[in-house]
Amino acid sequence: MRHEDLLTGSAEDISPTGIRQRTEAAPLLTVVVPTRNEAGNVRVLVDRIGRALRAVPAEIVFVDDSSDETVAEVGAVAATAHHDVSVVHRAPERRVGGLGGAVVEGIRAARGEWVCVIDGDLQHPPEVIPRLLDRAKEAAADIVVASRYTEHESVTAFSRARALISRSGTGLAHVLFPVRLHGVTDPLSGFFLVRRTAVDLDRLRPRGFKILFEILGRTPGLRIAEVPFEFGVRHAGESKASFREGLRYVAQLCELRVGERAWNFGRFGAVGVSGLLVNVVAFALFVRLLGVHYLAAAALATQVSTLWNFVLTEAWIFSARSRRRSAAARAGMFLVMNNAALVVRAPMLIVLVAALGLNDQLSNVLSLAALTVVRFGVADRWIWSKERPAEATWHGYDIHGLVTVASEVALPELERFRVHHAIARPTVRVRIGTLSRVQSALVAELAFLVRHTRYDEGLGRYGFGIDITVGKSIHVVASPLLRRSPHVLYTNVVEAILRWTFVKKGYALVHGACISFDDRAVLVTAKTDTGKTTTILRTLDSHRCSFLSDDLTLLAPDGRVLTYPKPLTISNHTVRAVNTPLLSRRERFFLRYQSRLHSRTGRRFAFLLAKTHLPIATINAVVQALVPPPKYHVERLVPGVEKAEEGRLAALVVIERGGDGHARLEHHEAVDILLSNCDDAFGFPPYPSIAPFLHSGNGRDLRAEERSIVTRALEALPATMLKSTTMDWSQRLPAVVNRSLPYESPEETLPILAPALPLAID
Ligand code: GDD
Ligand code: MN
Repeated sequence: MRHEDLLTGSAEDISPTGIRQRTEAAPLLTVVVPTRNEAGNVRVLVDRIGRALRAVPAEIVFVDDSSDETVAEVGAVAATAHHDVSVVHRAPERRVGGLGGAVVEGIRAARGEWVCVIDGDLQHPPEVIPRLLDRAKEAAADIVVASRYTEHESVTAFSRARALISRSGTGLAHVLFPVRLHGVTDPLSGFFLVRRTAVDLDRLRPRGFKILFEILGRTPGLRIAEVPFEFGVRHAGESKASFREGLRYVAQLCELRVGERAWNFGRFGAVGVSGLLVNVVAFALFVRLLGVHYLAAAALATQVSTLWNFVLTEAWIFSARSRRRSAAARAGMFLVMNNAALVVRAPMLIVLVAALGLNDQLSNVLSLAALTVVRFGVADRWIWSKERPAEATWHGYDIHGLVTVASEVALPELERFRVHHAIARPTVRVRIGTLSRVQSALVAELAFLVRHTRYDEGLGRYGFGIDITVGKSIHVVASPLLRRSPHVLYTNVVEAILRWTFVKKGYALVHGACISFDDRAVLVTAKTDTGKTTTILRTLDSHRCSFLSDDLTLLAPDGRVLTYPKPLTISNHTVRAVNTPLLSRRERFFLRYQSRLHSRTGRRFAFLLAKTHLPIATINAVVQALVPPPKYHVERLVPGVEKAEEGRLAALVVIERGGDGHARLEHHEAVDILLSNCDDAFGFPPYPSIAPFLHSGNGRDLRAEERSIVTRALEALPATMLKSTTMDWSQRLPAVVNRSLPYESPEETLPILAPALPLAID
């Protein structure tokens, strides 16, 4: 439970965590108002929003961190408000992220397609909101910023000093993010409208005031528009801007620019340098003032500087980490680590200078640098290691209400099915853990109750290992290595399980892309690496059609298809079909190497290895952990793409390399090809070892059931084989779909669909 509505006006009704249970239709717009001690502004604000949005289906959500009567005031005002008004009150210990954290929480609670974030002190005139909505529509934007700084506008409500600070903050943002913030005059505005589904809230690390900047910085591919407005004067109460907020912003800038780990490392290095100074001073104090022997003084000074470093590291670098170990344990480990590092330096120096013949100054710097890296690694991964998430905070996915997955690790492929409430009884649970022998012996004893299988390459936590138990639900325990390789965990474990779980529910998860022309969906199947993704991208780019899925599609026996929107893997030959300028410079750079590794040749090589006795699943997991496959959601590759939730199949198309021309397929041929393509897609280890376990059991033969679903779904459906040597399937696809219209003769090809546009190629 995250919070409850406050429509009755009694502040006692609010539970600190809760999900709103409401049944009415979702509003178009949710207005999110972060408040901290704004009691004097609530009534006027709600009133003015009410008048400005009289004709708009909207709700207002306050996210409140106040110690004054703001909450009660919202309750009182809600009773007579024109719109639905609710409030999430955050108790002092839950006020993470300050203003930004409150906004994120508000967006999570929002039900509208659009979310407008607005200050609670009326410096942002609510009358501007309709203009933001209009602009969003007109510009087909994902986000519309209400800007204080378009052309000649400036903020008259600011003092000279505040205006200067605000201007330099904005300038700094533009200097550091010239591409991302191009055309955004006011990235630090607190007033904006955003399409709720366009931001991935889990990626944000909100802290303090600059939440818009956080969203812009971490959400690639947003279509941004602006609307000018005049920043007003505060109605009542006082500003919460502070020097501390300024510092938070600088930290945010740094971290967004270089990444979290690099930013932490940089700070760790800075702390180390400050520790050196402390060491020098402490040494001098011990020797000069207290007359301690210089060797003892050196040892003592080290303890002082270590303590100094510890306090800074704790308070400044890892302050946001939830603590798994006690403070004493952290301090103890840090002390031991630093002293050990000191001891290791002497032999290191000897090796560098005497054995390798390096210059002694250089060796000194090298040894310091190396030890800083090692110490940072230990601190980051071990001393301040992140806490294992409680099950309530696991990642939950709901796939069309058919199957639910709860996973300790985020499964990026399922992102579009993500839900933000705890799933009570997930169909599949995925946990990271070590596969113990005891446990498996126990499970073997209980074999009459549950079914159990294990695939383990025998390398313990550093190798690929999974344990699957099937009872009422399916429990997966995956070895710690797989935490670092979520793509492998999903593709080679979870997806395999899902395939057969869907069959149990009467659906087939088939290997085929699906796009829909008007209401006619076409399933495009092929062997892996034929060029399916390229074909789909080109078709979407040049024809009027909507996207359902690229790799796998859910098929019902009655011929309905449901979207399965995984991010698309851009392999070597797909690169040319995508509009690469849409990706950032960094992404494009890595794409070249990633796509080579995750290409046909790469995969063939992996299959060859699989025939040997090497621990192939482990190798695969390690490689993919080091070089994650290039995966992007379709809207990043084809901007403005239309998406469909479901459709009705009108045709099956098999694409194949080699030869030219096309052929009609018999129904049974079509079924055989589609099913064999599925097996082809699911072939990589450990699949062959776990498949028999997955598709049998409880007296059911799921393979036969899957075949029967596919057989019925493809019944009376035209199926065509398109062969090509030039990979021109995308140009021929629409004709096939047109011809499949029942009221047209099969010879005719009607140019109903827009002709192919020239492709954007680099
Ligand atoms: N929930 C919550 N928690 N709300 C907060 C917090 C907090 O910790 N701190 C401030 N707020 C609320 C205030 O109650 C107000 O509704 C809104 O956030 C803006 O706070 P002000 O204190 O009025 O900030 P400002 O007017 O100085 O700053 C404005 O301009 C900045 C750009 O210069 C805001 O719009 C900022 O978001 C913006 O970055
Ligand atoms: Mn303000």
